[in-house]
Amino acid sequence: MQGACKCHPVRAGSPRSAVPRFPLVYAMYKLLRPLLFQLDAERAHDLGLRAAAWAQSLLPSVVESVYGYSDERLKQRLWGTSFPNPVGLAAGADKNAQLIPFWETVGFGFVEAGSVSARPSDGNPKPRAFRLERDEAVINRMGLNNDGAEAVARRLEDIIRQKTVPLGVNIAKTHDPEIMGEAAVEDFRTTVRHVAPHADYIALNVSCPNTREGKTFEDPASLDALLETIAAAQTSHPGLKTPLLLKLSPPLSEKLVFDTQLEDLVAVAEAHEIDGFIATNTASDRTGLSASAENLERIGGGGLSGAPLQARATRLVRYLYRATDGRIPIIGVGGVRDVDSAYEKICAGASLVQVYTGLIYEGPGLVRRIKEGLVDRVREEGYANISDAVGSAA
Ligand code: FNR
Repeated sequence: MQGACKCHPVRAGSPRSAVPRFPLVYAMYKLLRPLLFQLDAERAHDLGLRAAAWAQSLLPSVVESVYGYSDERLKQRLWGTSFPNPVGLAAGADKNAQLIPFWETVGFGFVEAGSVSARPSDGNPKPRAFRLERDEAVINRMGLNNDGAEAVARRLEDIIRQKTVPLGVNIAKTHDPEIMGEAAVEDFRTTVRHVAPHADYIALNVSCPNTREGKTFEDPASLDALLETIAAAQTSHPGLKTPLLLKLSPPLSEKLVFDTQLEDLVAVAEAHEIDGFIATNTASDRTGLSASAENLERIGGGGLSGAPLQARATRLVRYLYRATDGRIPIIGVGGVRDVDSAYEKICAGASLVQVYTGLIYEGPGLVRRIKEGLVDRVREEGYANISDAVGSAA
């Protein structure tokens, strides 16, 4: 808690944060990036992943030797599952769980597939993802494109036997604005029924305003109804008793002082014995950007991710840690792009962190760099394990 802070972020530009210990990892992506960035953001993502997965299937030991890095001090046990390290892949990068072996080889400590919804969806018309390079940010309005719960569950059934790191599945309401109220709750329940038996945790994406009324399940009454229904399903089918995490949106972090909605939301989550929080999803506003109004106008609507989200997401992590006295584990996500931004979230109260936009700008070598940096921090602080740092600056 406050006062007991042993968290010393490295200043930007200091030798330790600037010089990667394994330059090859860094150099490969630095060479590739200008080529990828010639393409539309979604195409670059797809192409980059396809090339990486191809390299991995052809030369697994080379990929493993470039990206592989593990250390006992990064291991933690949460929700009855062992996490080899605290750096995870955020939802959205592998919605249909098609590249799990690749993410494992790159060194992620866990992977969150999804968002998956009850019905498949093609998502919104393209283009629907945009890089803002100067801001190290992305704006996306993918529209929950995914294969649907049944198809993804079939894929997960095969993966679960081979996977080597925990696998979360993020679920959201089907992208159809006409599905509202009780139908929306039922939609979530259908997805839980399909995917829960094959996941180490379920992330409830309650922060996606994809109904005609623009409502999300972040309103405490709606959340209560949703959690009640899922609890009933889990009680009647013990096979569905997978840990449940709530993924929240960043605007809540601005409401901390003057709004009781967040307090009420935490109370609902605690009453339903929710297993964890994920803070945060993308932001619908444009706070913290240097991009011109014209550029933003041209891009249009969508969720903002990356560096501009970093402080806001950390603020919500800290709030949740304090509000629950650190009893409920938190995954911190938003603007994690180096060891400093990862360690900041851990010290604020996150047991685990996730990355997505950082991966686009830094490449897959980022995972190894963060892990090496975290081990340095653990050693410098005299901790036995990374979990000793969790909440040290809350
Ligand atoms: C996302 N994110 C996301 N989140 C979610 O819960 N379900 C989803 O389907 C998606 N899809 C998605 C697509 C794209 C293109 C991006 C960039 C992001 C949000 C993501 O998981 C994460 O919460 C935010 O992006 C913040 O983290 P970063 O990107 O700043 O590391």
